[in-house]
Amino acid sequence: MIQIGDKQFVEYLTADQLESYVISLSMQIDKDYKGKDLLILGILNGSFLFVADLVKYMTIDPEISFLKFASYEGTSSTGNVKDLIGINEDLTGKHVLIVEDIVDSGTTLAHIMSLLKDKGAASIQIATLFFKPEAYKQDIELRYIGKEIPNLFVVGYGMDYQSKGRNLTGLYQLKP
Ligand code: IMP
Ligand code: MG
Repeated sequence: MIQIGDKQFVEYLTADQLESYVISLSMQIDKDYKGKDLLILGILNGSFLFVADLVKYMTIDPEISFLKFASYEGTSSTGNVKDLIGINEDLTGKHVLIVEDIVDSGTTLAHIMSLLKDKGAASIQIATLFFKPEAYKQDIELRYIGKEIPNLFVVGYGMDYQSKGRNLTGLYQLKP
């Protein structure tokens, strides 16, 4: 058990389990985008470790960039999304892959999709390491999902509780 701020967390997935989800996603993406001009857009801060590990296993050579928004406060989604770092790349003709650490309500994703539409991308798909289907309120297709999880609050492997816990190598859930 670990303590972060006022809350206690217990291990939910080990670092080895996380690695196996990442490798499997990386291999699928690598195969699907072979011969294509791929732009990976990681969503900060949560996806920084996932993007770093995901691209290490690829044989293709994608462009890699990041966007930054804020919608989460404490352990629940606020519903408002603020842009902190927007799109600087030319998307024309590129195959864009949005990379998220975790999709919860989908509010952030809906905002990102509205920012990216009409920018001339050849395609836009989403890869997320974790997905909480019970919390999802959108109908945007998630092409690549590492693992579906119940409606738990988790930290580690990039994900935080009150800005802490991101460097944990495993995934931890709020102690029930
Ligand atoms: P959404 O807009 O509600 O889908 O929330 C998306 C963002 O909130 C994710 O990119 C995460 O950064 C963060 N988030 C969602 N669920 C969790 C969680 O269980 N732990 C930590 N951060 C989370
Ligand atoms: Mg995020």
